[in-house]
Amino acid sequence: MHARVFIAATVAVVALSFQVAALQSTLTEKEYQASMKEISLTVGDAEGHLQARYWGEIEADAGRLISEFEKVEAFWKARNTEKAAAIAKKAKTAAVALDSAAVKDDHIAAGAAINRLKETCESCHPQYREKTDDGYRIKANR
Ligand code: HEC
Repeated sequence: MHARVFIAATVAVVALSFQVAALQSTLTEKEYQASMKEISLTVGDAEGHLQARYWGEIEADAGRLISEFEKVEAFWKARNTEKAAAIAKKAKTAAVALDSAAVKDDHIAAGAAINRLKETCESCHPQYREKTDDGYRIKANR
């Protein structure tokens, strides 16, 4: 397939999958936790794939992160916690940047995008997450 047609088709599919994600019902708290675990594993994968310069794998990781953070953002919006939703949106933006960097095989930009992604974990958790005996939960009244 002609490269430009292929890219256009890929963009269309990605845009469509965002819309499908947006139509899905809001995460429950249990699903929210599963999403966080998925995010955590995927960021680790992306770091490993970046070291190995497995660009195609990084694109897949980025796609997964975009869709998870989209759901996380919607979760907080549904709770009217706009500040947390804004942090999730920032994470999604960093995942989009990771995808673009991977498409261009740009090691520096991809590393910077992963760092920006990880900053969002650190800015959200202290405010919205608390420790329990066997893991974590959403802070009360958040
Ligand atoms: C917008 C806020 C927000 C962002 C951004 C965010 N998290 Fe979380 N995270 C939470 C909250 C709230 C919890 C507690 C929910 C729970 O564990 O039930 C949590 C829980 C977790 C957990 C624990 C899951 C468990 O075992 O209970 C992991 C791991 C985690 N996050 C990883 C990450 C990583 C990695 C990032 C960044 C790449 C990230 N999170 C970004 C809010 C956020």
